[in-house]
Amino acid sequence: MKTSKLLCLLFSSMFVFLANPSRSTGQVGQTPPMGWNSWNHFGVTITDAIVRAQAQAMVTSGMQAAGYTYVNIDDGWQGQRDSQGNIHGNANFPDMKGLADYVHSLGLKIGIYSSPGPKTCGGNVGSFGHEDQDAKTFASWGYDYLKYDWCSCDYGKKVCGTQQQAYQKMYDALKGTKRVFFYNIADVGVGKPWTWAASVGGNSWRTGPDVMDDYFYMAEEGLGNNGLQSFAGPGHWNDPDMLEVGNGGMTDAQYQTEMSLWVVLAAPLIAGNDLTTMGSDIIALLANSEVIAVDQDSKGVQGSRVWQQGPQEIWVKPLADGSKAVAIFNRVKDPSTIPLPFKQIGVTGSVDARDLWLHKDLGLIQDGYKVTPVGYGAMLLKLTPKK
Ligand code: GLA
Repeated sequence: MKTSKLLCLLFSSMFVFLANPSRSTGQVGQTPPMGWNSWNHFGVTITDAIVRAQAQAMVTSGMQAAGYTYVNIDDGWQGQRDSQGNIHGNANFPDMKGLADYVHSLGLKIGIYSSPGPKTCGGNVGSFGHEDQDAKTFASWGYDYLKYDWCSCDYGKKVCGTQQQAYQKMYDALKGTKRVFFYNIADVGVGKPWTWAASVGGNSWRTGPDVMDDYFYMAEEGLGNNGLQSFAGPGHWNDPDMLEVGNGGMTDAQYQTEMSLWVVLAAPLIAGNDLTTMGSDIIALLANSEVIAVDQDSKGVQGSRVWQQGPQEIWVKPLADGSKAVAIFNRVKDPSTIPLPFKQIGVTGSVDARDLWLHKDLGLIQDGYKVTPVGYGAMLLKLTPKK
C-alpha cells in the first residue's frame, strides 16, 4: 500500500475514534436504547411471572414493532451468594437463565441491575468484591444490559474507590465475558457522569435523581438536560431516567410532554408502566412511529432549547435528512399560542411542516407561524427546507 493511502487510513480511524469516544462492550446503543424497566411501577415487588408478562405485552401491544427491545429487571431480583460467592435470584426469581431464554424467545433482549457497592439501593446484595464473578454470571445467564447503580459506595468513605474506578472495574469485567452488554451507569448524576462515563465504557448515564410521576418534577428533570448535548452521541447517551408514561400521575397531555422532551433529547426510551394493563391512549403515546423516529434518528444529536419566553419553550433537534424536529412546550395550565421564531430555529423562507403526533402535513409555513399547545402540553413538528 502507498504511504499516502496508509496515512489516510490512519487519520480516518483516528477520526472515527475521536468522534465516538464510547468504549462499549460492542457496537451497542448506536441509537438510544428502547425498552421497559420494572422499577417505576413495581419497585422491589417484582417476580419472574411479572417480567414474563411484561415481555409478552411488549410484543402483543405493538411496542416491540415500534422498536422497544430491552426488558430490564431492576432492583429486587437478588437472593444470596452461595459458598463460592456466586449470586442467585431470590424465591421470586428461581431461574434467571430460564427467564432470559424466555425473553429471547420472543425476539427481545433482557437487562439486569446491580450496584458497585456491597448493597444496592433497595438493600439487596451488590457486586462489591464480586465484579468479575457477577459479570460472568450475568453473561452465562444470557443478559444483554446492565444498569449499575451507586448506592452504598459512600462518597465520603470511598468504599468503591472513585466513581470512575468503580464503573471501569465493572466495564472491564463485562468486557472480559466477551458478551455484548449495554452498560447503563446509574449514579443519579451526582458525579457529573456526562464528563467521564463514556471513557469508562458507559453507553448511557443518569443525569439526575429518580424521575417522578409528576408533571412539574418530570419537566424540571428533563428540561434540565439542556446544555449536556455535546456529551451525547451514538453509543453514549445522557439518560434523564425511565419514562413514567402510563403510571397514572399525569394527564395524557403531560405524558405527551414527557415523550416529546425525551425524544428531542435523544434519551433512552425505557417505559416504566405496567404494559399488561395499559389502554390504547398510552400505547399511542409510547409507540407513535414518527415521534420515536426523532429519538432514533441516525445522526444521534441531542436537541437543545433555542428559544424561551417564561413558561413557553422551543427545542430543536437536527435530523439526519437535513430537517429539524421542533418541540414546543407550554408549561402553564391553559392553552397558549406561540409564534415559531425561524431565526432561532435555524430555518429560513418557507418550510414544509408536519405534525408528528398527529401524522399530519401542515403544508408550507413561514416565520411566525402560530401553534397552540394545550395546557401543560407539547407539540412536535418536523420542519423540512423546501428543495
Ligand atoms: C436508585 C435508582 C432507581 C432504582 C433504585 C433501585 O434509586 O436511581 O432507578 O434503580 O435505585 O433500588
